[in-house]
Amino acid sequence: MNQQLIIFDTTLRDGEQSLQESLSVEKKLKIAFALEKLGVDIIEVGFPISSPGDFKSICIISKNIKTSKVCSLARCIDKDIDVAAEAMKNADYFRIHIFLGTSSLHMESKLGRTFNEIVEMAVRSIKRARKYTDDIEFSCEDAGRTDLDNLCRIVEIAISSGATTINIPDTVGYTIPSQFQDIITSLYRKVPNIDKAVISIHCHNDLGMAVANSVSAIQAGARQVEGTINGIGERAGNASLEEVIMAIKVRNDIFKLNTNIKYKEIYNTSQIVSKICNISIPSNKSIVGENVFTHSSGIHQDGVLKNRENYEIIIPETIGLKSKLLNLTSRSGRAAVKHYMSNMGYLEDHDYNLNNLYDSFLKLSDRKGRVFDYDLEILSFSNSNSELL
Ligand code: KIV
Ligand code: ZN
Repeated sequence: MNQQLIIFDTTLRDGEQSLQESLSVEKKLKIAFALEKLGVDIIEVGFPISSPGDFKSICIISKNIKTSKVCSLARCIDKDIDVAAEAMKNADYFRIHIFLGTSSLHMESKLGRTFNEIVEMAVRSIKRARKYTDDIEFSCEDAGRTDLDNLCRIVEIAISSGATTINIPDTVGYTIPSQFQDIITSLYRKVPNIDKAVISIHCHNDLGMAVANSVSAIQAGARQVEGTINGIGERAGNASLEEVIMAIKVRNDIFKLNTNIKYKEIYNTSQIVSKICNISIPSNKSIVGENVFTHSSGIHQDGVLKNRENYEIIIPETIGLKSKLLNLTSRSGRAAVKHYMSNMGYLEDHDYNLNNLYDSFLKLSDRKGRVFDYDLEILSFSNSNSELL
């Protein structure tokens, strides 16, 4: 039986905190509904102590989201934890997510604490949060740069204090896939009570490796992945959830994992997040970019017309996108022109002259760049009625 991979979305927290302007409650709610429809297991709705606006959005979203679990972020500070619980008190189920820096850099230069003090703060906060819910996530902030023995020690203590999910963030996107995978493998080898918690990962994209690091960690046994839609987030962003999800689906021969994701909602969710957050999606962005499912060169176009699998590993309909398949440009061949014409109902050779049409198509595409079906229609009309013009 395949194991389950828990999908944890932090578009409304790590994603939103990177926007130039914070989102209104209505906009956040719209994104939350889209995420729920997409089937993510957990929606991190915000950091309620950070502002009254965030607190209010969390209260409203928590009341309205029914099938995903909601989660709020808190530092290891009593007030943060109490406010997180208060903001989500009307939710059907909720999680409190506590984080604390564990790398020497964060302990010394950000928090001014020794490792023993950090461990004490973590234990105290986990126990406090357990009074509100038995679903507690503990994040070792900057785990990617944390000494491995310290990491193993704090993970073991966090689990025995009541944390049910342990998150290993690569906060500054510093690790590379083999190294991040080794961290997860070492935790499984060295932490005696590791099987009492779900191991989660949370990767940032500073070196462009957030998705690769996430996928490597999943191969090492992580069973919750955190990320954002379209990869929005602090600095270079977070792991792009749609990319991780599709990697797991397309290469399930390797991963053998199930998710609750409704794949057909991926494209729509990506568009909603892009429009609401006012962040455009690069045309070559994996999975959801404008050009990802169109083929331009004549050889590729001929290949996909014979069999899509020649050049496609995902069909657009899987993510809820209508097939656009071919881009008509000066690099297209006769096969693509013929395909467009038959889609418009010109099925027989005598309906138009392909050679003439192709010649005028090439002239037009050299001038114009991309050619559309209506251009072909006009060209073929002009060719067959030249005496009238
Ligand atoms: O990147 C990070 O370390 C975080 C934590 C709060 C989980 O966002
Ligand atoms: Zn983060």
